[in-house]
Amino acid sequence: MTQRDFEFIRELAYNQTGIVLPERKRHMVYSRLCRRLRALRMRTFFEYCGYLQQEPDEMGHFINALTTNLTAFFREKHHFHYVRDHLVPKWQQRRSRRLRVWSSACSTGEEPYSLAMTLAPFFPRTQWDLKILATDLDTNVLTKAEAGFYPPETLENLPPTLAEQYFTAQGGMAKVKDSVRELVFFRQLNLLESWPMQGPFDAIFCRNVLIYFDNPTKKKIIQKFRQLLSDDGYLFIGHSETLHLISDDFDLIGQTIYKPRIGSISGLNGERK
Ligand SMILES: C[S@@+](CC[C@H](N)C(=O)[O-])C[C@H]1O[C@@H](n2cnc3c(N)ncnc32)[C@H](O)[C@@H]1O
Repeated sequence: MTQRDFEFIRELAYNQTGIVLPERKRHMVYSRLCRRLRALRMRTFFEYCGYLQQEPDEMGHFINALTTNLTAFFREKHHFHYVRDHLVPKWQQRRSRRLRVWSSACSTGEEPYSLAMTLAPFFPRTQWDLKILATDLDTNVLTKAEAGFYPPETLENLPPTLAEQYFTAQGGMAKVKDSVRELVFFRQLNLLESWPMQGPFDAIFCRNVLIYFDNPTKKKIIQKFRQLLSDDGYLFIGHSETLHLISDDFDLIGQTIYKPRIGSISGLNGERK
């Protein structure tokens, strides 16, 4: 991969996904795209870069190859404890019986399913309109997420009662039960592009993806989250992420947990309060 090839690839990745690929990620880019070159029986990155320009269908494969999808059930547990201990009692008081949560970079589904397992016992489907929207840019991870099959060892983080309650063994894999799957709606969505959802959301999870973006991209996305989040909503970001110097619209209220600042603009009513 020549410097010119790498420059082309990183510019394309940035324009398409917002993901910044610094020089230190060159080796990672090389090894991930090598697999794609092999599949296409191409010998050079020069050839592959040409193919990317001519073949619009290749873009999806290119993007899927470059995303980092590391995730786990109940990753950063404190967020799920916060939901269970602080938000559930609060939400249970509401009259509307409608709850909307968005996992905005859901990868293979462990995050939205962990949310569903946290909320399901408190908001029975017969009484509550609870929906968890789960989106990601990468179509491969969404296919896996929707299928809901996981290697049994990935359940190690789960309290044993949850594993028993919400998974069944099938063909050597652990399968998410329908009672949980039915709460989660998977869609492809690029955080860089326009979002079709109306909101308002009661909580948005955007964890471990802002880290791949530069500050102008982070600012745009966080501003849009504010517009879709209810004034009384919550934003959860990843352990190494911060809104410091990114947004004045949120107050930090817990470990990487934010609430809209009073007086910040909600896009839904469009008024400054
Ligand atoms: C490291 S995973 C984080 C998964 C999960 N949120 C967690 O914290 O465990 C980052 C995910 O962000 C997705 N992603 C990267 N760029 C994106 C974009 N522009 N729009 C939507 N998702 C994106 C990747 O496909 C990947 O699945």
